[in-house]
Amino acid sequence: MNRSLDELRQEAIKKLEKISGDPLREYMELFSLATGLSKTHALTNFFEVNSKRIEDLRLLETYISQRCTGVPLPYITGIEGFWKKEFRVTADTLIPRPETELLVELILSENKSKCLKVLDLGTGTGAIGISIAEERPNWKITATDISLFALRTAKINSRGLKNINFVQCFWLNSIGTSFDIIVSNPPYICDNDPHLKYLRYEPRLALEGGRDGLGPAREIIKTAKKNLVDKGRLYLEHGYDQKDDVTQILRQSDFCTIKSYKDFAGHDRVIKAHS
Ligand SMILES: C[S@@+](CC[C@H](N)C(=O)[O-])C[C@H]1O[C@@H](n2cnc3c(N)ncnc32)[C@H](O)[C@@H]1O
Repeated sequence: MNRSLDELRQEAIKKLEKISGDPLREYMELFSLATGLSKTHALTNFFEVNSKRIEDLRLLETYISQRCTGVPLPYITGIEGFWKKEFRVTADTLIPRPETELLVELILSENKSKCLKVLDLGTGTGAIGISIAEERPNWKITATDISLFALRTAKINSRGLKNINFVQCFWLNSIGTSFDIIVSNPPYICDNDPHLKYLRYEPRLALEGGRDGLGPAREIIKTAKKNLVDKGRLYLEHGYDQKDDVTQILRQSDFCTIKSYKDFAGHDRVIKAHS
């Protein structure tokens, strides 16, 4: 390692500027990941550069290169914040998105009963189901996914929680009981959507919603009533331009009291309907 730490830092930040809106924060996170030192150490030279540390800094350069080829930061660090905690993220899970917190916020604010049963379909990292389970220890949450690898990660994220269980299944196919609330953020991108090429590190299973992007929503809505109590609630996240289509599918399946909500960017993002 012939360069000084200052040079290494400056070069890395310059590279990250090309891909990131927050290169300094990303540098600090990757530095901490590579060295095991705190993020603030990234901006100082207050540590001994021994042979182990030189290896760490080489690892840091590998992480910077990965990030510069477009790998999202959470797929390198293996964690992403959602609601009130950090979730483990792997190549088999979608990185939880801030707009999905709207589902958690609505379910918590609109449902005041002490004991409710909630089904989270397509749980991925477990972000939705685990956040609700942590906020409402008396509620019982069942979280499903078709991907065993995603479920394994969700289980790790749920460690310590006693009110959530995990089931592998195709949407509602083998769900036998009824729930007060069903929630899902299903895949909703059209197979030929040009945005897919910018999401090349995310699992296809978590993104692609078929020809019109609505295949999973259609399947969930068509079968949800059999697993909802009378006046049960279905909460679905959808694409910014899918509100009218999802509303129509809900009406065709005899759902009522349909209400739409916008995310913080002002896009229609969530629909709630009663069985
Ligand atoms: C858009 S991701 C949502 C992940 C997580 N709920 C979130 O909001 O971050 C959709 C999830 O649905 C799962 N999935 C896809 N097809 C499925 C199916 N047929 N049955 C159950 N889950 C499915 C994927 O594995 C993925 O975890």
